[in-house]
Amino acid sequence: MKIAMVGSGYVGLVSGACFADFGHDVVCIDKDQSKIDRLNDGVMPIYEPGLGALVGGNVKAGRLSFTTDLAEGIRGASAIFIAVGTPSRRGDGHADLSFVHTVAREIGEHLSNDAVVVTKSTVPVGTGDEVERILADSGTQHRFAVVSNPEFLREGAAIGDFKRPDRIVIGAEDEFGRQIMQQVYRPLFLNESPILFTSRRSAEIIKYAANAFLATKITFINEIADLCEKVGGDVQDVARGIGLDGRIGKKFLHAGPGYGGSCFPKDTLALLKTAEDHESPLRIVEAVSKVNDSRKRAMGRKVVEALGGSDAARGKRVAMLGLTFKPNTDDMRDSPAIAIAQTLDDAGISVSAFDPEGMELARPLMPEVEMVGDPYAAIEGADAIVIVTEWDAFRALDLDRVKALAKAPVLVDLRNIYKAHEMRSAGFAYTSIGRP
Ligand SMILES: NC(=O)c1ccc[n+]([C@@H]2O[C@H](COP(=O)([O-])OP(=O)(O)OC[C@H]3O[C@@H](n4cnc5c(N)ncnc54)[C@H](O)[C@@H]3O)[C@@H](O)[C@H]2O)c1
Repeated sequence: MKIAMVGSGYVGLVSGACFADFGHDVVCIDKDQSKIDRLNDGVMPIYEPGLGALVGGNVKAGRLSFTTDLAEGIRGASAIFIAVGTPSRRGDGHADLSFVHTVAREIGEHLSNDAVVVTKSTVPVGTGDEVERILADSGTQHRFAVVSNPEFLREGAAIGDFKRPDRIVIGAEDEFGRQIMQQVYRPLFLNESPILFTSRRSAEIIKYAANAFLATKITFINEIADLCEKVGGDVQDVARGIGLDGRIGKKFLHAGPGYGGSCFPKDTLALLKTAEDHESPLRIVEAVSKVNDSRKRAMGRKVVEALGGSDAARGKRVAMLGLTFKPNTDDMRDSPAIAIAQTLDDAGISVSAFDPEGMELARPLMPEVEMVGDPYAAIEGADAIVIVTEWDAFRALDLDRVKALAKAPVLVDLRNIYKAHEMRSAGFAYTSIGRP
C-alpha cells in the first residue's frame, strides 16, 4: 500500500520510516526544504536512537522517499497522514490548528484518487469534522474518509513504541476508513498489538485524556516529593510503595523538576481550552498545569538555596548537566532547563551547560547560558552542579575529578540518579528531590 506522511518531524518521520519497514511504500512530505534536503542526503534532522539506520535501510530498499511536493507525494496514496505540529496558539493556549487546516486544504486541492485522510497530529475534539468540511469544500470528486489515529510514541524510544505499541487507536466513522486503516496496521495486527476502533471524536479525546492523566501522575508524585522534604520521608520509597499496587502502577512516579517536552504542557493547556469552550471544567487538569508551571522556577530557587540563599548566590556560577526535557532526544520544547536557567540568571548566577544532544536547539532558547563541550568543562570552576536531565552519561561521573574541578562540591540532583548517603560520604553537599 502507498502511504503519504505530510509533516516529517519527530512523529511523521518515525511513523513513515516504521510503516516503510513494515513493507509499505511511503513518501514523507515536508514544506521545510532544508529538512527534505538533509533527509535526501542521508542526514537525520532530529536525534532519535536507531532512526538513521531505519531510514537508511528503507530508502535503500526503495520503500521510503522524501519530497516537498505534496501533489506528487500524495499521488496514488491510499492513506494520507497529517503529522504536522499543533503548538499552543500564541496568547490563548488553544491548539494552533493552522498547519493542519493548511494541509487539509492542500490535500483537497491535489487529491487524485480515493483515499483516507488520517489525522496523526494531536488535535482537539471536532478537528476531524473540520478537516472533513475542508476536504468537502475543495470540491474533490474522489471518495475520501477522515480518520483520527493519535500517536502515543515517546521520543527517545520512538521506534520501539511505534513497532510495539500498547495499543493503536483508530477513530473512524465509516467502513471505508476502517478497512484502509486495518490494511495500514495489518503487520501490527498480526503482532497482536491491540487495535481499538472508536468514533472519531472518542479517538481525539483519548489522546488528550491520556496525556492529561500522565501529566497528573507526574505532578502528583512531585507534590508528594515536596511533602516528603518537609516531613522527612523518601519519595522513592513512597513511589515504590504505592506503585506496586496494580491499580496505581509503577510508571510515571519519578519525582523531578516538572514535566516538559513537546506534548504534555501544550496538550494539557489545549484540553483546558476545549473544556472551557464547552463549559465542562477539568479542575484537576487545571491544577496540574498550574502546579507544573510554578515547579520549574521553584527548581531554580532550590539551586539558589543550595548556594546559601540569594545574597550568597549572586555572582556565583552553576554547571548545568542536561538541557533536554528527557534523555535520548534533542527536543528542547518546554524543557524545565529553560525556566531553571532563567531563574538562575534572574538571581545573578551565571550558567555553563552541557547536553549530549540538545545544545544546538537549546542555544537560541537560552542565550544567557554558556554551552561547553563536555560535562567536566561545565563543572570546572563551578560553585554548584545541577543535574537537570538523567542522561546515562551523568550517572557515572568521575566523582574525584568532579570534586577537583568544581570550586565547591555542591550537587543538586533534580532526577535522583545518585544515592544521597554515597554522595555525602564522598564529600558532596548533596540535595535531591523528596529525599532526606
Ligand atoms: N513529538 C512527540 O513525541 C509526539 C508524540 C505524539 C504526538 N505528537 C503530535 O504529533 C504532531 C507532530 O509533532 P512533532 O513533534 O512531530 O512536530 P515537529 O514540529 O517535529 O514536525 C512537524 C513538521 O511538520 C512540517 N509542516 C508544517 N506545515 C506543513 C505543511 N503545510 N506541509 C508539509 N509539512 C508541514 C514542519 O516543517 C515540521 O517538519 C503534533 O500534533 C504533536 O502534538 C508528538
